[in-house]
Amino acid sequence: MKFSYMIPRLDFTAAGKASTDTKRRLTQIGLPIAFIKRVTIAMYEAEMNVAIHGGGGEASVEVGTDRITAIFSDQGPGIPDIDLAMQEGYSTASEEIRNMGFGAGMGLPNMKRNADELRIDTEVGKGTVVTMVFHIEKGAS
Ligand SMILES: Nc1ncnc2c1ncn2[C@@H]1O[C@H](COP(=O)(O)OP(=O)(O)O)[C@@H](O)[C@H]1O
Ligand SMILES: [Mg+2]
Repeated sequence: MKFSYMIPRLDFTAAGKASTDTKRRLTQIGLPIAFIKRVTIAMYEAEMNVAIHGGGGEASVEVGTDRITAIFSDQGPGIPDIDLAMQEGYSTASEEIRNMGFGAGMGLPNMKRNADELRIDTEVGKGTVVTMVFHIEKGAS
């Protein structure tokens, strides 16, 4: 199964659609709640980054037998220093965005924590592709 979503720029009413829809689908499939939670949290952070920092873009989610692969891509400004961006509390979000409750600088650290694999391909001036893989936990729910 494969799904894709458009992620509009700075549209906070549409934001969260990819993670919310994926959560619903994974719940229908009957995957463990704790696993779904990890996927949902990481996906939400990734799609907000596309909406806030990446100028909008898209997400694709592939559900395999043993893994879920979620890819987020945008053609925004790119990330000049990934090590810096990965640090807890680091954010380039504007004052306006912070006043809306975003820009705590915890998104990338949360993605790292919740995904089994995180890969960031980025080029300044070209855009960013974030790939996350989640290994499906069989058994306990
Ligand atoms: N898709 C992206 N395009 C450009 N910059 C990004 C992207 N995702 C993350 N960043 C950069 O990494 C920083 C840290 O991201 P994150 O940990 O999610 O914190 P926050 O979103 O709260 O700023 C962002 O402030 C931004 O500078
Ligand atoms: Mg973020």
